[in-house]
Amino acid sequence: MTQFQKALKKYRETVDAKVDDFCAKLDCRPRVLREGMIYSLKSGGKRVRPIMVLACADMLGVEQERVLDLALAIELIHTYSLIHDDLPEMDNDDFRRGRPSNHAVFGPGNALLAGDGLLNSAYGIMLKVCNEDQTALAAANWICEAAGIYGMIGGQSADLLHENDSCRDEQILDFIYSNKTGKLITAACVTPCLMGGGYFLEMNTYGERLGKLFQLTDDILDVEGSREEIGKTPGKDAKEGKYTAVSLYGLDNSKKKVLSLQQDCLDALEGIDRDTWFFRELANYIAGRTN
Ligand code: IPE
Ligand code: IPE
Ligand code: MG
Ligand code: MG
Ligand code: MG
Repeated sequence: MTQFQKALKKYRETVDAKVDDFCAKLDCRPRVLREGMIYSLKSGGKRVRPIMVLACADMLGVEQERVLDLALAIELIHTYSLIHDDLPEMDNDDFRRGRPSNHAVFGPGNALLAGDGLLNSAYGIMLKVCNEDQTALAAANWICEAAGIYGMIGGQSADLLHENDSCRDEQILDFIYSNKTGKLITAACVTPCLMGGGYFLEMNTYGERLGKLFQLTDDILDVEGSREEIGKTPGKDAKEGKYTAVSLYGLDNSKKKVLSLQQDCLDALEGIDRDTWFFRELANYIAGRTN
C-alpha cells in the first residue's frame, strides 16, 4: 500500500466510525424511514468529501475533532443528493454504490423522504456545531450555500433542464459541473480554512478545479467503466441525453482535459506554505480513478 492509500484508509475509518455512530443513534419512526437512511449511508461510498475535510484540517493544523461533525454533515448531504439523483424522475438509475438504488428497494416516495431526512439531519448537526463553536458559523454557511440553490440544487436543475439539448456549449457544461458537483467538493476543502486554518483562496480554487476533474472523470467512467467497478449502471448518460464532457468534446478530448485539469489542481496548491502532499496525491488519484 502506498503512503497515500494508507492515509485514505485511515481517514476513511474515521469517517465510517462517525457515520456508524450517527446511524446507531437514529431512532426515528417509522422503521422504513430509518432503514432507508441507513441503507444508503452504509452502502460504501468513497467518502471523498469528508476525507477532504479531515485531510485539510490536518494540513492546516486544525484539530480533527472540530471539523468531524461538519464532515459528517457534508456526507449526509452528498448521500441525500445521490438518492434523489437516482429517482425515476431524475436520472432513473436503479443501481448505486454496488447495490440496488434506494428507490428500487424502498420505493420512490420513501426514497424521497430518506433523502429529505438526511438533508434535515445535516442541518440539525450544523446548527448544533455552530451553537457550541462560533468559529464553525462561516463554514456551515458555506456548506449550506454549496448544497442549495446557488450550488448543487442549481446544478442539478440545469442538468435536468439541458437533457437532450441538441446544441451544446462549454459555458453550460461549466455551470453544471461547478454547481452540481464542484460546490460541495469546494465546501469540503474550505471548511477547515474557514475554521481558522487560513489559505481559503488557495483551497477554494483547488476545490473548484478538483470538483470539475471529479465530474469529468465521472462522465468518462460512465462510458468506459464497468458496473462492478463504478457500482453504478454505465452508459446512462448517453441514454438520458445528459450534458456531459463526453457529449461536448468526445471521449479522447475529454481525456486530454483530465490531464490539464489535474495540472490546474496541482498549480492551485502552489501558494500554500504547508505540506500539500495529500492534496497533490488526491488530484492524481481522482484523475486516474476507476471507481
Ligand atoms: C457521485 O459521487 C456523484 C458525483 C458527484 C459524480 P461519488 O463518486 O463521490 O459517489 P460515492 O459517494 O463514492 O458513492
Ligand atoms: C450527480 O451527477 C451529481 C449529484 C449532485 C448527485 P451524476 O448524475 O453524474 O452522478 P452519478 O453518475 O449518478 O453518480
Ligand atoms: Mg445526475
Ligand atoms: Mg446520476
Ligand atoms: Mg455520472
